Amino acid sequence: MTQSVILKGQTLAFVDDPFVVGPDLATRFETDGAVWIEGGLVRSFGPADAIIAEASSVPVHDFGKHLITAGFVDCHAHYPQLPIIASYGEQLLTWLEKYTFPTETAFQDAGVAAEAASFFVDECLRNGITSSAVFATVHPESVDVFFEAAAARNLRMACGKVLMDRNAPDGLRDTAQDGYDQSKALIDAWHGNGRNVYALTPRFAPTSTPEQLAAAGALWSEYPDILMQTHLSENPKEVAWVADLFPDAPDYFGVYEHFGLAGPGAIFGHAVHLTNRERAAIRDTGSAIAHCPTSNTFIGSGLFDMQGLRDKEATIPVGLATDVAGGSSLSMFATMRTAYEIAQLRGYSLHPAKAWHLATVGSATAMRIADKVGNLAPGIEADLIIIDLTSTNLIRRRVARAENIWDVLFAQMILADDRAIAATYVAGEPVYRQD
Ligand code: GUN
Ligand code: ZN
Repeated sequence: MTQSVILKGQTLAFVDDPFVVGPDLATRFETDGAVWIEGGLVRSFGPADAIIAEASSVPVHDFGKHLITAGFVDCHAHYPQLPIIASYGEQLLTWLEKYTFPTETAFQDAGVAAEAASFFVDECLRNGITSSAVFATVHPESVDVFFEAAAARNLRMACGKVLMDRNAPDGLRDTAQDGYDQSKALIDAWHGNGRNVYALTPRFAPTSTPEQLAAAGALWSEYPDILMQTHLSENPKEVAWVADLFPDAPDYFGVYEHFGLAGPGAIFGHAVHLTNRERAAIRDTGSAIAHCPTSNTFIGSGLFDMQGLRDKEATIPVGLATDVAGGSSLSMFATMRTAYEIAQLRGYSLHPAKAWHLATVGSATAMRIADKVGNLAPGIEADLIIIDLTSTNLIRRRVARAENIWDVLFAQMILADDRAIAATYVAGEPVYRQD
């Protein structure tokens, strides 16, 4: 763990919610800023002169005009699917059958899973993602190796064993009892062990029997401080299938509510095709949504209603997520860009402050770790990224015409990729540096 160091550069922090108070009141931006890190935490940040005067004996690392800000938080991703990113020609249900399930079957081999987990977390760091909520596979060892990879890099990551006891091929199904027992053993082994967070992970309503969903609800009530992650209303055929499988439920979200799988700490991936009752129930239960824009475009699922869910119903926590590998990128810049484009297609322009907030504080709030990561604030864990704001010729040219910080950040979210991530700090330590 670091003693004490000061990172100097431009700094960006959120002091409020830009969806509520607007971009300028919600942010604190310093062109000559500094972040003082001590013992792996942010001790303070602000104008460089003041910070450096107060901490005169602390070494200073000067990043010039680079931006120092919180690492990105990805609130929904599938590490085992990275090998099938960019698979052609299918929508959700056939994409699962043709590409996803066969790939996940190979994760019964812990060696395959360990290699994939290491690759995934290293790619996250290269893209400036310092925390994620991650689906493993049905195999418990796929969770062990993931948490081992995260712990080896001291990352605050959430992960869980996928529960699926029907409508899946041989080798990829558990039972209600085995799924419960294995999840419980994994919670006892990993939740709160170092920075690890366990997420109870029923894949989605169609791949679990009512017995399995009931067992999952019971387990969550035994461990209320773990997360619960699943999928909701991503694709119209999926929604119709859920209505067939659960004829007594009022709607898709109602299935999860019935089995005790809604509430604070529940993260629902997608939520594209919601009824008004579902919107109200998501809000009233305190559940969160993971918006997965590149997945929604790539596998053709639909256009998320950011304005309706977040601008007008600001009490619903919404985070931003890559959903690799239905999602087509592990870059939060590409994810923010596609969120912007989807909003544009619905006649709403997503301001860069709002996009950035979704990709940091929003996701951390959905994961119930916003008191620990996802922002610059005294006492928060120093998971930070250093962004080169002129990482390509095109960005440099565009930024030269920028009138304010929002133009500069907007250029990043539309044009940047992993070349913009100059360094990633985890708990105050530089764990990734671009060569
Ligand atoms: N719904 C159920 N499983 C999955 C998955 O792996 N990816 C996506 N995008 N949707 C799902
Ligand atoms: Zn997903």
